[in-house]
Amino acid sequence: MKILCLSDLHQQPDDISDAIRQVRFTPFLQYIRYVVEDTAPDVIVVTGDNVPTPYVVSLKAFFGALFPADIPVIVTLGNHEFWERPFEETLENARNQDADVPNVHILDAEPSVVIDGYNFLGGALFFDGSMRWRENDDLLPWDGWQDWRIPDIEQRYKEFNAFYVKRIRQAMKPNMPNILCTHHLPHIALNGFEPSHYSFYSGMKDLVSQLPFNDAFPNALICGHTHKRVIGEVVPGFYCVNTGSDYGILKYYLLEL
Ligand SMILES: [Fe+2]
Repeated sequence: MKILCLSDLHQQPDDISDAIRQVRFTPFLQYIRYVVEDTAPDVIVVTGDNVPTPYVVSLKAFFGALFPADIPVIVTLGNHEFWERPFEETLENARNQDADVPNVHILDAEPSVVIDGYNFLGGALFFDGSMRWRENDDLLPWDGWQDWRIPDIEQRYKEFNAFYVKRIRQAMKPNMPNILCTHHLPHIALNGFEPSHYSFYSGMKDLVSQLPFNDAFPNALICGHTHKRVIGEVVPGFYCVNTGSDYGILKYYLLEL
């Protein structure tokens, strides 16, 4: 099983619209298509922060235009996809796509997708404060971090996180490999940065040990968000990938299980 891991593509409206209409692919998107052709993956995983919130409803159309129709594509939302609109509305848009593209799956809408005996599950996940870098660190002050744009996040961030943790737990399949695909970090070891105030917003210190992974199988953790590359068995027993794409700079990883 060859899994091409992508994340944090941070696309602009005109570039998305032109790609959907197949009239223009930016050099960045052309490069992604080249990488797909070159690596010939069995599955493509794209872990969030890819489009502005109004384009969440077009995620299937966008990735359907970008990628070949015969490769399954597993997508999650990221924190950027929740800016400026109520949490529930964005989830509704993830479910009610404006195009039917059978090979593209959005985990925030469809909790689990089994491909060739591998269970792909996850979603945006969100943070719960467990990655705080010192005891008295809190969500506030935002200190330049832009997630204040997510409506009600100051009151509801733990609720958003709990929503995803519950869904992920329900979507686990202990009798096969589980490939956990999230935008925020499922374990602190996937943070390539030194601890700081921003660690708070990065994800969860250790979601992994709360879940029924079966270590007889090659389980994997694939995430994004931090724009800092971390690859390898940084969580013992797991293939771990945080691709580390930064604005306009594509980083990818071909995970072979
Ligand atoms: Fe992010």
